[in-house]
Parts: sequence; structure tokens; C-alpha cells
Amino acid sequence: MAANIIDGKAISAAVKEKVRDEIAHEGLKVELAVVIVGDDPASRVYVNNKKKACEFCGIKSYEYALPEETTQEALLELVDTLNADANVNGILVQLPLPKHLDEKAVIERISPNKDVDAFHESNVGRIMIGNYSFLPCTPAGCMELIHSTGVEVSGKECVVIGRSNIVGKPMAMLLLHENGTVTICHSRTHDLAEVCRRADILVAAVGRPNFVTVDMVKPGAVVIDVGINRLDNGKLCGDVKFDEVSEVAGWITPVPGGVGPMTIAMLMRNTVTAAKIQK
Ligand code: GUN
Repeated sequence: MAANIIDGKAISAAVKEKVRDEIAHEGLKVELAVVIVGDDPASRVYVNNKKKACEFCGIKSYEYALPEETTQEALLELVDTLNADANVNGILVQLPLPKHLDEKAVIERISPNKDVDAFHESNVGRIMIGNYSFLPCTPAGCMELIHSTGVEVSGKECVVIGRSNIVGKPMAMLLLHENGTVTICHSRTHDLAEVCRRADILVAAVGRPNFVTVDMVKPGAVVIDVGINRLDNGKLCGDVKFDEVSEVAGWITPVPGGVGPMTIAMLMRNTVTAAKIQK
């Protein structure tokens, strides 16, 4: 039987509408500063989509598009200026930065209560102990998608493929907060397929097209595909081999139209949260 498709577009639209209504009803003034360095085409698309979502929600966004050759000092100076500006509620520095820049130092410079990506060490630490204001956008979006299926996380076998600081690790933590039994797989995992086959909830965040094949998926599982891979023919493709996995999974997210739009919706939510915290 074919899987139910989890409609990230529709779910993200509902989240954005809720954010928009909240801003309107509470008369909030919300501003997001978006910093992009260089001209990575994927980053440009993401930043444009984030700005569009801000416009929809009633969040003022200001873009700081800096040239590729921007120095570390100049970038840190901009972050300092945005930190000090009381009108700016959220600061987002689009990653990846050009190679000569120190991403970690830039992230750590952002004031934690304006860190709407939740990448700052203090926000990451707060997620570990379950005392957080912001959740990282992509894992938070994945949780919303899982909730939409009605499948309870509590007590379930959850497998996350990928251990990045931005997705894999926080994703595992959010599943754990909801009482999932969580396994993180990575490039050194022995018999990956066997581990994945145990999963009632499988999250793929590997960054390799069509990595998860049908033999790795338990019939009826919820499959969340975080991958956004651009193929040589220009098409977008997830980490999951959708055509075959959708034949056995219970629920599956498409690419595009799954996790991607949710990341942006969660950014909107975090930006409103930031404005409220600062009020
Ligand atoms: N690059 C890819 N994903 C993200 C994200 O969620 N936030 C930022 N700042 N950069 C990214």
C-alpha cells in the first residue's frame, strides 16, 4: 500500500497563518535581519524564501547582502551593530559562509536572545536540558510533520541518519524529549540498513541523494526526508528514494514540499518568540 504523503507546504502555510494572526492580534512589531555573504545560488533562494515568508507574516525583514570578500572583522562588526539595535528582534546569518570566514565565531557573536536559528552554544545547551526559548528550525519543523501524522513518538524506535550540529543532533534530542528511543546513525555505523529497519520513525539528514532505499525501511514507518540535493539535471532530490520507499512507508515527506517549507515556518515562529522575549 502506498504511503500517506505528509504535506509540508500545507502544514507550513498553517503555521505561517498562525504567526501572522498572532502578530496582527497582539499588535507586535517584529523585525528580522538577514545576512548573506557572497553569491551562493542555493543560499540566495533560501534567503528570498525567508524574506517572502516575513512579508506574509507581517515581519519586517532587512537584508544585508555582503560581498564574497567581506572580512571577518566587518562581518562581526555588522553582527555587533544588529545586536545593539533594539528594533532588530532576530538575526540570521545564512550558512555556509565563504571559506575564509569563521562560521563558529560569527554564530557565537550573535546575541543568544536574537539567535532565531538556535545555533548559538547557549541555545544548543538549553535544548540539551529541555529549557529552551528557540528550537532549531529544521528539527522543529520535522517534529511538526511527525505530529501531523498522529503517530505518537513516545516509546517508539526513532532513527536519525546524520549527526550534524544543525539537524541530526538536535533532532535526536527533540525525539528524546518526547520519549522516543533514539538511535543516531552516521558514516561509521555498522549495518546501517539493519538499524534503520528497526525505526518506527526514520529521519534522513545525510545530504546524499536517494541514500535511503526500500530495504532500509520498516513497513508502515514515518519517513522524514531532510535532504535537499540538486541533481546534475537541475532537479531537487531528497535523501530518500521516494518512489520505492513510498510503497512501504506509512507516511513520507516529499522533496520539495516536505521539510523545506517547514524550516522557514519555524523561523517565523522563532522570530515572533524573540520579539516577545525582548519586550
Ligand atoms: N543554511 C542551510 N540551512 C540553514 C538554516 O536553517 N539557517 C541558516 N542560517 N543557514 C542555513
